[in-house]
Amino acid sequence: MKERLQKIIAKAGLASRREAEILISDGMVRVNDKIVTELGIKADLIEDKIEVKGEPITSLEKNVYIMLNKPKGYITALKDPQRRPIVTDLLSDIKQRVFPIGRLDYDTEGLLLFTNDGDLAHCLLHPGSRIFKTYLGEIDGMLNSGKISRFKSGIELSDGITAPAKLEFIRRKKNRSLWKISIYEGRKRQIKRMFESIGYTIYELKRIGFGPLELGRLATGKYRFLTDRELKDLNKTLKLAQTVRI
Ligand code: URA
Repeated sequence: MKERLQKIIAKAGLASRREAEILISDGMVRVNDKIVTELGIKADLIEDKIEVKGEPITSLEKNVYIMLNKPKGYITALKDPQRRPIVTDLLSDIKQRVFPIGRLDYDTEGLLLFTNDGDLAHCLLHPGSRIFKTYLGEIDGMLNSGKISRFKSGIELSDGITAPAKLEFIRRKKNRSLWKISIYEGRKRQIKRMFESIGYTIYELKRIGFGPLELGRLATGKYRFLTDRELKDLNKTLKLAQTVRI
């Protein structure tokens, strides 16, 4: 597929579109061994040989996988018309054009993954993959055994009954209580709506796990790259999910 050269360079994570335009104008980009300085030129990543500063673009493409501890008060989006802080503001020194894998609400904190690997993101978000995401939620009051069992059997929400969730009591905090909740669906405000529908309010919600990945001691607002081990574990979880589906 033919695309504008600056778009191809940006997609490869080498520069922003604006920076790519400067690279082109400065004569740093070759297409099929010819220097191209015109900005409107289109090329095909598969069929054409595209080089940036002498390096073929395919060998420069690098997938990155990042875990951020999202603070409250950030929008999970690549831009916000209301100009509120967005999660990618916290990744400003990452060169590749990464996007979040799924979403956390404005007032939810915790583990948020980013990548430029569209295939992996697609597999992780596919409902059939059934990747459990784990949260800590602080609610008013205490749940009795009847309410607890509703999480397992499914809770009726406006967009249908929820798939079985896992729920574990952690501790009491004065007139509130702390729970660990794991769900594999990713509906809008799902956990808040699940508690609301049985008469409780969530005061704090934090994601601490995504499949085999754990937030651990990563400080709020900080990010790190996934380790090779974590990537392997993630891929293993996905493969297992596919085998179960077959
Ligand atoms: N469930 C919610 O209610 N909010 C989130 O951000 C994530 C899961």
